[in-house]
Amino acid sequence: MREAYSGPVDSWPAVETTGDTPFQEMALLERPHPFADDPMEQLGEALFFDPILSASGQIACASCHHPDLAFTDGIRTSIGHDRQQGRRNAPTLLDKADQAIFMWDGAAISLEHQALMPISNPVEMAETQAALVETMNADPDYPSQFRAITGRDEIAMEDITAALAAYERTLTRRTKFDVFLAGERDHFTDQELFGLHLFRTKARCMTCHSGPRLTDDEFHNIGLTYYGRKYEDLGRYALTNTPENVGEFKTPSLRHVPRTGPYMHNGLFPSLRGIVNLYDAGGARPRPREGMEGDPLFPETSELLPKLNLTPAEKDALVAYLETL
Ligand code: HEC
Ligand code: HEC
Repeated sequence: MREAYSGPVDSWPAVETTGDTPFQEMALLERPHPFADDPMEQLGEALFFDPILSASGQIACASCHHPDLAFTDGIRTSIGHDRQQGRRNAPTLLDKADQAIFMWDGAAISLEHQALMPISNPVEMAETQAALVETMNADPDYPSQFRAITGRDEIAMEDITAALAAYERTLTRRTKFDVFLAGERDHFTDQELFGLHLFRTKARCMTCHSGPRLTDDEFHNIGLTYYGRKYEDLGRYALTNTPENVGEFKTPSLRHVPRTGPYMHNGLFPSLRGIVNLYDAGGARPRPREGMEGDPLFPETSELLPKLNLTPAEKDALVAYLETL
């Protein structure tokens, strides 16, 4: 195994995927330019940690994206305005610089576009754009700081989202797998190396988690829709109204997963081991309950998830590899 993975990535054992889905080879993620003394990024950082963005004046972006928790909140689903609980799990904000589509259902197409959503979401920051722009312009410090960059007297909503996005684009961290990919092959234990091999072959993870960020940026249903139940979330369907999209969510990047639990769009998986068991079983495949037969919206779990028949030692190795990301 050591021998097989000692050379450059294109000399490694061939990747095995399910179906004929295209995949991208693993590669070192290009690092964004580091946070430096760019004034827009500094303003963005100040705003990110400032509860001025919320109606109550108590909730900042960082309340749900905490730097010590890899910019997540560590809970199942986020709690926002008036202690209301949202229905989705907060993703990490690390390594978003070259991401093309955001939110679990793909509702946002840029970081600037995304930033508008938590601000006006009634269970997150619950603030209107008009009220926020007014508060910002009445602040003793922000107007002059923005004027120094934009040359305009008034702060506009676009300035606020541009600053937040500029800061977010700088967020990155090196992982153990990065060091391995950069050429230090001794950095992995035998078990981690075996886990990498399984991820690329028998476990077929690269059918969907491929490329430098370990995602295809596509939408799939792995069976967690909870259709007709308390936790129901129709995912991508809410945007497209296409029945095939019921229960599909964006394949998340797996970078930083050791620090981003609990997992999945609904935060219902507390451990990576539980996730490996789910994939071993071929994903979740709920059957229609009484009265749901023939329902055109009944979610279909992806055909790209075969049963894997992993041994306990193989599951341990896969988890050990995930712990390096
Ligand atoms: C109340 C908690 C909460 C607050 C406050 C909050 N977020 Fe989030 N954030 C979430 C949740 C939950 C999601 C996932 C939502 C979804 O996919 O439907 C998310 C998703 C995101 C994403 C998308 C990440 C991805 O990979 O798809 C970005 C970027 C982001 N938030 C940035 C921000 C910024 C910037 C702010 C401040 C303006 C902010 N968030 C405030 C909880 C929060
Ligand atoms: C058919 C595509 C597909 C395949 C194959 C696949 N995944 Fe996923 N993965 C997804 C999607 C989509 C989600 C999010 C699902 C949701 O939240 O409902 C996900 C979520 C995850 C998460 C949770 C990440 C987070 O931030 O919450 C982990 C960990 C994970 N997958 C690991 C793996 C491993 C390990 C394999 C191989 C055994 C694998 N995946 C195979 C599509 C796939």
